[in-house]
Amino acid sequence: MDEKLLKLLSEINYPDMERDIVDFKMVKVAEFTGNDEILIILKNITNEEKFNILKKNIEDKMKGEFPEKKVTVELVKKEVKNIEVGAQLGEKEKSLSHIKHVIAVGSGKGGVGKSTVAVNLAIAMSKKGYKVGLLDADIWGPSVPTMLGTEDEHPFVNEKKKILPIENYGIYMMSIGYFIEKNLPLIWRGPLVTGALKQLMNDVEWPALDYLFIDMPPGTGDIQLTLSSDAKIDGVVIVSTPQKIAYIDAIKGIVMFQKLNIPIIGIVENMSYFQCPDTGKKHFIFGKGGGEYVAANYNIDLISEIPIDPKVTIQGDEGVPITEGLPGSPVTKAYVAACDKIVNFKYKAK
Ligand SMILES: Nc1ncnc2c1ncn2[C@@H]1O[C@H](COP(=O)(O)OP(=O)(O)OP(=O)(O)O)[C@@H](O)[C@H]1O
Ligand SMILES: [Mg+2]
Repeated sequence: MDEKLLKLLSEINYPDMERDIVDFKMVKVAEFTGNDEILIILKNITNEEKFNILKKNIEDKMKGEFPEKKVTVELVKKEVKNIEVGAQLGEKEKSLSHIKHVIAVGSGKGGVGKSTVAVNLAIAMSKKGYKVGLLDADIWGPSVPTMLGTEDEHPFVNEKKKILPIENYGIYMMSIGYFIEKNLPLIWRGPLVTGALKQLMNDVEWPALDYLFIDMPPGTGDIQLTLSSDAKIDGVVIVSTPQKIAYIDAIKGIVMFQKLNIPIIGIVENMSYFQCPDTGKKHFIFGKGGGEYVAANYNIDLISEIPIDPKVTIQGDEGVPITEGLPGSPVTKAYVAACDKIVNFKYKAK
C-alpha cells in the first residue's frame, strides 16, 4: 500500500467515531494505479450509509491533494465462506481410506438416539459377519464407552505409536471418552475439537474394516465439516424422531450432507411407536409420519422404524446394547432391517 495515501486515509475517522479507518484496519488497498487513478478499497464495513459517507470524505480528501487524479473508492463485502460442493474433496489421501465403507450416523437434533442407533447398527452389522468399527466423533459428549460397556478401559499404544482400538462384542471402537476423566465437562474450542477428531481418525490403528460407523455430534458444525473434508465418508444415515421439531432439524442435516456431496443412505426413524406388550397395539407417542414425510419430500429412503422400548435405555446404560442382549426383540429386528439397506446401498465407485 502507498504510504502517502495511507497517511491521508489515517486522517479520516470512521463516521461518528474518534478512530480513523487505518487504525480500524478498514483499508485493504490504497494505490496509485497505472492510468492516473487512485484506488482505495475498504473492508469490514457492513453499514452502507457509513460507507457512503466515507467514500465522499475520501474522494474529497484525495481530490484536495491530487486534483488531476481520478479517485475510485470501493468496498469489499465481508467474505461469507460458502461450502463449495465437493471443493474439499481434493486429491489428497483422505483419512480412513483403507476402510471399505465409512458410514456417518448423524442428525440435526440432539437426543434423538444417534449414539444408540450407531452402537446398535454396529452390533447388528457385526452379527451379520462383517468386520465392524465404531468411531465416537461426539467429542463433547462421548457415549460410546458407556453404551458398549467399556468405560473403564484405557487404550494402548503400539510400537508404531498408534492407538489400538478397544474391542468389545466384536466391535473395534475409539472415543475421546477413553482419554478424559469421567464426569468432567470438556470445555474445548473449535480447533482443539477438530484436532482431537483428526487424531481419532489418523492416530488410531483402525484395522481393515468392512464398515466403520461414526457417531456424530448433533448439528451441522465443525465436526461435520472436518469429517466431510478430511475423511472418506461413503454414506450417511440420518436419525430422526417422528415429531416435527425433530425432523425439521433432520432436514437441515440432509441439506448439509447433500451440499457436501455425501450420499445419504436413508433415514432411521427412532422412537417411532410403542407397541403395547399386552395388546400388541401400536401407540404413536411422538406423532406419526415424520420420517415418511422427510423421505418423500427429499427423495430419501426410510430405512427403518425403530420402536420405543424402555429396555433400550436400560441396556444402553448397562453397557449391553439391545442388539446384543435381546437378539429376537422387535427393536433388534428393526436394526437388522436397517443393516440390510446399508449393505445393499449403491455406493459410489472409488
Ligand atoms: N428406541 C428407543 N427406545 C427407548 N429409548 C431410546 C430409544 N432410542 C434411544 N433411547 C434413549 O434415548 C436417550 C438418548 O439417546 P442417545 O444418547 O442415543 O441420543 P443422541 O442423539 O446420541 O444424543 P446426543 O445428541 O446427546 O448425542 C438414551 O437414554 C437412549 O437410551
Ligand atoms: Mg450421542
